[in-house]
Amino acid sequence: MDPKILMIDQAAEYVKSQPGFVKPKFGIILGSGLGQLADKIDATAVLPYSDIPNFCKATALGHKGNLILGTLSGKPVVAMQGRFHYYEGHSMQNATLPVRVMKKLGVETVLISNAAGGLNTDFKVGDLMIIEDHISFLPNPLIGENLSEFGERFPDMTCAYDKALISQAEKIASRLGIKLQKGVYVAGTGPSYETPAEVRFFRMVGGDAVGMSTVHEVITARHCGMRVFAMSVISNMSNDTTESRVLNDADDVIRAANIAGENMSAIFKGILEYD
Ligand code: HPA
Repeated sequence: MDPKILMIDQAAEYVKSQPGFVKPKFGIILGSGLGQLADKIDATAVLPYSDIPNFCKATALGHKGNLILGTLSGKPVVAMQGRFHYYEGHSMQNATLPVRVMKKLGVETVLISNAAGGLNTDFKVGDLMIIEDHISFLPNPLIGENLSEFGERFPDMTCAYDKALISQAEKIASRLGIKLQKGVYVAGTGPSYETPAEVRFFRMVGGDAVGMSTVHEVITARHCGMRVFAMSVISNMSNDTTESRVLNDADDVIRAANIAGENMSAIFKGILEYD
């Protein structure tokens, strides 16, 4: 057996063997400061990443490092409370292993969140942005021998972000009176924030928000045929001049994400209810 498949299988078998395992239909990936949705899950099992074979350690600020199984809005879910970033030094293959584990557990739809810098000058700190498309400067997680049991060599990315889920989210937001932005997410490796020249460049090529995550998970999920919905909390506005006195600060990012996280939780819960 391919050693990469073996690693995925070992992790999936461990999760399935836990008391409290319920076959999940939805996978949720909670980004910086958005862990509070985890508290709303009726958990039947909370598995520290350190106990799951072949899972990396979560080292990022604001990322707890638990895989949570249970129900949310009455639907069976598996949630990652904290994710793996490329900037932590993980290989792309290891950073995306949990997404393939989700597939093996039975997940059909993945809901992904992140904190991101606002490139679009119409955005404000605390806004929520539905990701409609992306531009990636991260290494592609599918580089290497194709794992054909998951998907094809050259997967299409035209409709990576599920249109039906986007329109459902818009309906829920309008019913709850939550303002939503929509746009293109640019992914960089980090961990340094963007320079003002990079911010102006990303804006010029059509980016609305910029972050250091999500896209590797989206590509991996689409490769194996899972539906994807993804949303950013605009936790800071990107600096586009070297004159700015408002420098990027990781604690500010987490604070803003925590506040907007309540509205994001409501939208995720709404999507589960209606699906
Ligand atoms: N840039 C990159 N990643 C981020 C930012 C940012 O401004 N804010 C939150 N994550």
